Amino acid sequence: MMLLRDAKTLDAYVSSGGFSSLKKALRMKQSEVIKEISVSGLVGRGGAEFPTGLKMKFVAQNLSTPKYVIANADEGEPGTFKDRVLMERNPYQILEGMIIAAYAVGARKGFFYIRHEYRKIAREIEKEIDELYSEGYLGSNILGSKFSFDIELVIGAGSYVCGEETALMESIEGKRGFPRIKPPYPAQRGLWGKPTLINNVETLANLPLIIELGSKRYTELGTHLCPGPKLFSVSGFVKNPGVYEEILGKITVRELIERAGGAEGNLKAIMIGGGAAGYIVDKSFLSMPLCYHHARERGIFLGTGDIIVLNDEVNLWKVLLQIAKFFEHESCGQCFPCRYGTKRMRELIEKILRGEGKRRDIERLDAIANALKIASLCPLGSSAALAYESAMEYHRDELMEVIS
Ligand SMILES: Cc1cc2nc3c(=O)[nH]c(=O)nc-3n(C[C@H](O)[C@H](O)[C@H](O)COP(=O)(O)O)c2cc1C
Ligand code: SF4
Repeated sequence: MMLLRDAKTLDAYVSSGGFSSLKKALRMKQSEVIKEISVSGLVGRGGAEFPTGLKMKFVAQNLSTPKYVIANADEGEPGTFKDRVLMERNPYQILEGMIIAAYAVGARKGFFYIRHEYRKIAREIEKEIDELYSEGYLGSNILGSKFSFDIELVIGAGSYVCGEETALMESIEGKRGFPRIKPPYPAQRGLWGKPTLINNVETLANLPLIIELGSKRYTELGTHLCPGPKLFSVSGFVKNPGVYEEILGKITVRELIERAGGAEGNLKAIMIGGGAAGYIVDKSFLSMPLCYHHARERGIFLGTGDIIVLNDEVNLWKVLLQIAKFFEHESCGQCFPCRYGTKRMRELIEKILRGEGKRRDIERLDAIANALKIASLCPLGSSAALAYESAMEYHRDELMEVIS
């Protein structure tokens, strides 16, 4: 295990090689660290799949100061629980990655943003941060170098959209969690208008690995298009739901489900990429190798790496209703297509579930999904259309059975 190794104490982490990557990174030039991350091919594990090295380069090249680093541990996506397990089992690897990232981009201050539902983990992370100060891994002149870095823990207030990077920054700044219009991107103008590197905690946990192995050995993991390990949250109708660490591209959807004990009942559909902002696909996806490249070839995104198994007892309209309710509740209300579209989507699905669905309602749902995709201000609105559109693409006959 490269990410999910059990290293809950600092002693256990250090004795299994922890913080040797930070020591190595501090002997390298900042540009060399960024080069290693870029060559490694690491892409963000928070859902947007953006190349991490490139993001670091943008922040490093921005001449404005001060610069910030944010670890995104908001993990609000339903069906995603990989970051929780990672923080519980191997927290220091995330913090080491954060310190390496800060050194590389020239940041002196970082924020660890965690959802308030993870209060117990937040208390642990706070203790772990304190420990790193006493052991010289944080604070002034880290490990005797000229580099100084501080981390502050921030606990969210329960809003899904505050996991979105710009809303998260508004939240840290003490404002209402409204997403900002992009560009400017966080690397240009982030926290308090300053260059900011924001990464998912799983992304950050990969940085010590890349520095330890070297980018060449890291790229040899996985496929040349998608290197590295990935955490998958597997749930729904499977015998052993949980978080599974796999090498990208080396395992298919079917094999991962088998690793989780196999489906309970007859598998009908799979939700990939998120329990709300994901795709509802069919059995033809069982043979798809789990990597970003193959997912895109099939017209979907791996997102946060969720696999939710749905069996033939599941009513897909009911699943779509839960998702629609979720988005209606979580829409921040700042822009009209999402504020009104998510509400109308929920109302129409409820009508269909009452047995009153007409073809005209499907046309309306199609139009709403389209409006959400093209006119929403932030990706929350556009992703509210994904489950409905993909379910219609892969399970149209079943969904249309109840439409008159
Ligand atoms: C509605 C919404 C919620 C999000 N929630 C999270 C989250 O909980 N954790 C996360 O890492 N990224 C989340 N993201 C993605 C972030 O905006 C951002 O892309 C990510 O933190 C970048 O890190 P990465 O490059 O390491 O993936 C969310 C995005 C949207 C649109
Ligand atoms: S798309 Fe939705 S969540 Fe995003 S800004 Fe608009 S209303 Fe808010």
